[in-house]
Amino acid sequence: MSNYYLTTPIYYPNGNLHIGHTYTTIVADVIKKYRKLKGDDVFFVTGTDEHGEKIATTAQKAGLTPKEFTDGIVDSSKKLWEMLGIDYDVFRRTTDEEHMKVVQDIFKKLVDKGDIYKSTYKGLYCVPDEAFFTETQAPDHICPDCGRELVEREEESYFFRLSKYKDAILKWYEVADIEPKSAKEEMKNNFINDLVDLSVSRTSIDWGIPVPGDEKHVIYVWIDALSCYLTGVGYGIDDELFKKFYPADLHLVGKEILRFHTVIWPALLMALDLPLPKKVVAHGWILFDGDKMSKSKGNVYYPEPIIDTLGRDALKYFILREFSFGSDGNFTLDKLISRYNSDLVNDLGNLVSRTLAMIEKYFEGFLPSPNEFSALDKELLDMIKEGEEKFYNNMDNMKFNFALEELFAIIRRANRYIDETEPWVLAKSDVERLKTVLYVLSHTIVEVARLISPVLEDTSKAIYEKFGLNYGEKVRAGLQVTKGTNLFNRAEDDMAEKIAKLNDELFISRQKKINKEENVDKKIATKPEVTIDDFSKLDLRIGEIKSVEVHPNANKLYVLKVDIGGEIRTIVSGIRDYYDIEDLVGKKIAVIVNLKPVNLRGVESNGMILAAEDDNSISALVLDRDLKTGSGIR
Ligand code: ME8
Repeated sequence: MSNYYLTTPIYYPNGNLHIGHTYTTIVADVIKKYRKLKGDDVFFVTGTDEHGEKIATTAQKAGLTPKEFTDGIVDSSKKLWEMLGIDYDVFRRTTDEEHMKVVQDIFKKLVDKGDIYKSTYKGLYCVPDEAFFTETQAPDHICPDCGRELVEREEESYFFRLSKYKDAILKWYEVADIEPKSAKEEMKNNFINDLVDLSVSRTSIDWGIPVPGDEKHVIYVWIDALSCYLTGVGYGIDDELFKKFYPADLHLVGKEILRFHTVIWPALLMALDLPLPKKVVAHGWILFDGDKMSKSKGNVYYPEPIIDTLGRDALKYFILREFSFGSDGNFTLDKLISRYNSDLVNDLGNLVSRTLAMIEKYFEGFLPSPNEFSALDKELLDMIKEGEEKFYNNMDNMKFNFALEELFAIIRRANRYIDETEPWVLAKSDVERLKTVLYVLSHTIVEVARLISPVLEDTSKAIYEKFGLNYGEKVRAGLQVTKGTNLFNRAEDDMAEKIAKLNDELFISRQKKINKEENVDKKIATKPEVTIDDFSKLDLRIGEIKSVEVHPNANKLYVLKVDIGGEIRTIVSGIRDYYDIEDLVGKKIAVIVNLKPVNLRGVESNGMILAAEDDNSISALVLDRDLKTGSGIR
């Protein structure tokens, strides 16, 4: 027996958790339950990453303080984990007092050691995106995210001496267990070679943990967030717990945050003289129609409607069986339902109900003693023994889909065994043989229930109950069994539609909560006042889009030819993510025509089209009545 410490990322509570977050959490939970069955003492930390600007903005929109807002999301997340039976030990919130205090202590320790120092952050800044970029990231001073021009900006900041740990990180890579295996090379090439010190404080926001002794700074979210893996297991809080479980045996993360866990995190731990994690594993994304989920696209799937209709075991089974752990996979309700019907209802459900119905019918519900096993019986019994080994092997290697497939191959074989042995014929011709057949089937079912319990916990329990056994007990002659209700009920043809509708309703009600503020009459913050003279300096006109081409060197930009009243202007615009070419050609739009020309990634732009923008989308300003091209705008 050994101690085992594992973590999920701590999620951003800027919206309700969706199937993606559920994926990582279910995997962590299944690993915990699997290791517990093998006798390990397991400690599992999950939680929420609550500080930072995004959360503060979302909360403001909802008309709440950040803490009030995250309290609501945390409540619903905990409810979700309860619905799924997630057996975490600590739910660490970055707003927990004890966490915040330890993060400040960590910061101070690193300042004292000289590993955190104060300096100024100089960089290229995108004002609307509030993000800094380096010269390498934006050589032409154009925001790589939105295509707007960047400005040079300087901000006072604390820095973590990340560069000092470059060699130590590389040395760790020689022995570190990181998956996917390709990650180390990728980190070396893309990040470690040009490792610079990391800005670890912000003065532009106040929703965060204050830097001790310099409170106009707050601690950058990643330092705050990663420290959860320490405070969650008692660092600076409960020495005994920390000693027992630290360091982490496994950090489970999505692939987009592997960099933080294999570059910044080890350096931070080295600076604190703490041992490094034994294993860091990144999994792929669950995609929806080939796309990462996004609220603006409205393709967010929540787990609750699936749990409510098909049950939690169905969701857990699908997630682990359908997706191959390291790779991306596409989620569709049709696939979920077809797997549910074929594997759970037809294969497993039927095997159990057919077997128990026959024991009830032919032996009044008492499992008979077997006679000598035939070659066919032995084949099935051997398959269980071999399957068990393969199942363990795959579980140990996080190949959950293969592990489950091993068990379902046994289940399918057992169903065929019923067809081959024809117990209903034996009932008339050979009752002694029938006894053996039903015994072999019962043994198979209970062994599968034993192995599958970390994933299909409820189903496993229900099977043991039907056999009148406690978990882990073997079947034996004389047991009184009960067929009872079906383990799974067939999903009808309209199930996908039904789940989609429930999901849409949930999405809309959750969005409404977040956008509450839109219905409230209030003063909004504006830019400094201007005079009409200031405004009249802008030459704004109606332009007509004559042609649109994609920018040769930038994937967010279009190159437009715009008629502004006889003269054709070339205008580069960052609306490519929001408009197809054919939607733009022929449109009359608002253009500023006396803006200083600017070279955007090699194409000179002579003007700018005006567009409105919210969190989700962009809309070019078009006319609602046809006017002459070139007309002025006042
Ligand atoms: O990154 N497919 O939080 P986050 C698979 N707070 N997994 C997905 C997924 C998807 N479509 N969407 C989300 C953060 N995930 C930081 C982490 S840790 C110290 C700080 C899962 O709310 C996956 O595990 O954006 C991913 O890494 C995590 O949720 C991101 O959650």
